[in-house]
Amino acid sequence: MLTNHAFLQLPAYTQLKAHFDATESMHMRDLFAQNPDRFAQFSLQFEDMLVDFSKNRVTTETMTLLRQLAEQAGLQEAIGKLFSGDKINGTEGRAVLHTTLRNRANTPVVVDGADVMPEINAVLDRMKSFTERVRSGEWKGFSGKAITDVVNIGIGGSDLGPVMVTEALKFYASDKLKVHFVSNVDGVHIYETLQRLNPETTLFLVASKTFTTQETMTNATSARDWFLAGGQLAAPVGVLTDTANAVEDWFAAATPTEVDIAKHFAALSTNQKAVEAFGIDPANMFGFWDWVGGRYSLWSAIGLSIALYIGFDNFEELLAGGHAMDNHFRTAPLDQNVPATLALLGIWYNNFYGAQSEAILPYDQYMHRFAAYFQQGDMESNGKSVDRDGHPVNYQTGPIIWGEPGTNGQHAFYQLIHQGTKLIPCDFIAPAISHRPLGDHHQMLLSNFFAQTEALMNGKTEQEAADELRKVGKSEAEIAQIAPFKAFSGNRPTNSILLKTITPRALGSLIALYEHKIFTQGVIWNIFSFDQWGVELGKQLANKILPELEADTPVDSHDSSTNGLINAYKAWRKN
Ligand code: F6P
Repeated sequence: MLTNHAFLQLPAYTQLKAHFDATESMHMRDLFAQNPDRFAQFSLQFEDMLVDFSKNRVTTETMTLLRQLAEQAGLQEAIGKLFSGDKINGTEGRAVLHTTLRNRANTPVVVDGADVMPEINAVLDRMKSFTERVRSGEWKGFSGKAITDVVNIGIGGSDLGPVMVTEALKFYASDKLKVHFVSNVDGVHIYETLQRLNPETTLFLVASKTFTTQETMTNATSARDWFLAGGQLAAPVGVLTDTANAVEDWFAAATPTEVDIAKHFAALSTNQKAVEAFGIDPANMFGFWDWVGGRYSLWSAIGLSIALYIGFDNFEELLAGGHAMDNHFRTAPLDQNVPATLALLGIWYNNFYGAQSEAILPYDQYMHRFAAYFQQGDMESNGKSVDRDGHPVNYQTGPIIWGEPGTNGQHAFYQLIHQGTKLIPCDFIAPAISHRPLGDHHQMLLSNFFAQTEALMNGKTEQEAADELRKVGKSEAEIAQIAPFKAFSGNRPTNSILLKTITPRALGSLIALYEHKIFTQGVIWNIFSFDQWGVELGKQLANKILPELEADTPVDSHDSSTNGLINAYKAWRKN
């Protein structure tokens, strides 16, 4: 278990509060003007990743105090417990060992008296041989054809990681095997996916840690029905019958039976009983363990779609990148420690400046799901309001995470980041070398990447805006009217993460960097980062409401709003 503390009572917290009051009005422009070495002093290098945090509202003293905060919160001890398999997920009594899945050094890690590395390596070996058989075409579907399409059916951590990584590393994919992801219980999702696929050449991966998640089991059942019906989609009575059965080109070619399920369905799960009950051959089950949190599971069997898409060697490179960042996190002193530094900066804005959100802005189209991935990673981990003693917290915990790739975001929401009333710390991420160098595209992209953080830091004074207007011949009256709108306060914090190129290894390191940032913040806030009780209530109520939707009679067992909505739905559905 982690050692508890009262966040607001840490001596460094009080010192930081006083330091904040004394420095809140300082402008980064002045900090840069006063210190020509600011970039060198406030940036870190990890392998081919440069992390520049100089464009933050911090001084050397701020960073020193923040590091003291981490020390006083017992970060070093907590890191030791994370990596050694201590049961730091206190509300579920579990160890938190996703780092072990990428432990390429293979050093023993003991959980409940046994080293878990042999089991991990055994699953990796099976994933490797399965991946190779499918990718080479040796694995055949029921009619003797090779697999051309893999459909991962999962949700949350059993979907977002594989989606994000397969998109980010698309450059490394073979064009012989496509991957698709079905997550939403909305039938539209599976319908739109399956209607383009042929059951003879499609492989389903049912990805669910628990193998009980409503969305995943419903989608998996529909996929199995579609498969056994030779590619026909079941339609609800009287609805969409024609369109649902529009895909019939290959229907007569071959008809699959129950025994063929083994050639087309694999399970990625911790729950063997439920996998078997669903009808998937245990030989096609790739297991993992309860000490792998869903949102940290892409490194486990849940990553099988990644391995199939980019090849097992590249999957291993991803693991190696994560492992390298793990070693850095556990051994680098705090002033050199990249995840701890980003975590402390986040705490500075969250708990002292009152920032509510953080934006993650990748300047790389392949990384377009990165922010969405860490929405779950961060918000499901640190979206907590009870501390590790079970008491309500009286301070802010996890931020709202959001973001879109640059430059799209620039033409959508950057206006608010530049001139709005909210302080939004941003992480800008870019590769120096594009996988798709095309004319001047990458230079232009990167010129925007550099320009945005400079603009957010410097801003533009009203005087500078007035001078610009004067230069283009505006009258003094016009200048007085327009200049206030053209001024930018600046002083808006950003981190710039510049990678040489986004290789599987670099991506692995980047993901692990954010994971450890989240962990560090959870430790300092004295919360449990590895449970997610907050998603349960909605699930319970949905299970209660589902049978109510079937019955003909109106409902009156809820509040008037919920009753009114359900009854309006029922009335519309009837007509
Ligand atoms: O959203 C809640 C949650 O439990 C996530 O933590 C998890 O990633 C997701 O559901 C899916 O769970 P499973 O892999 O068990 O289907």
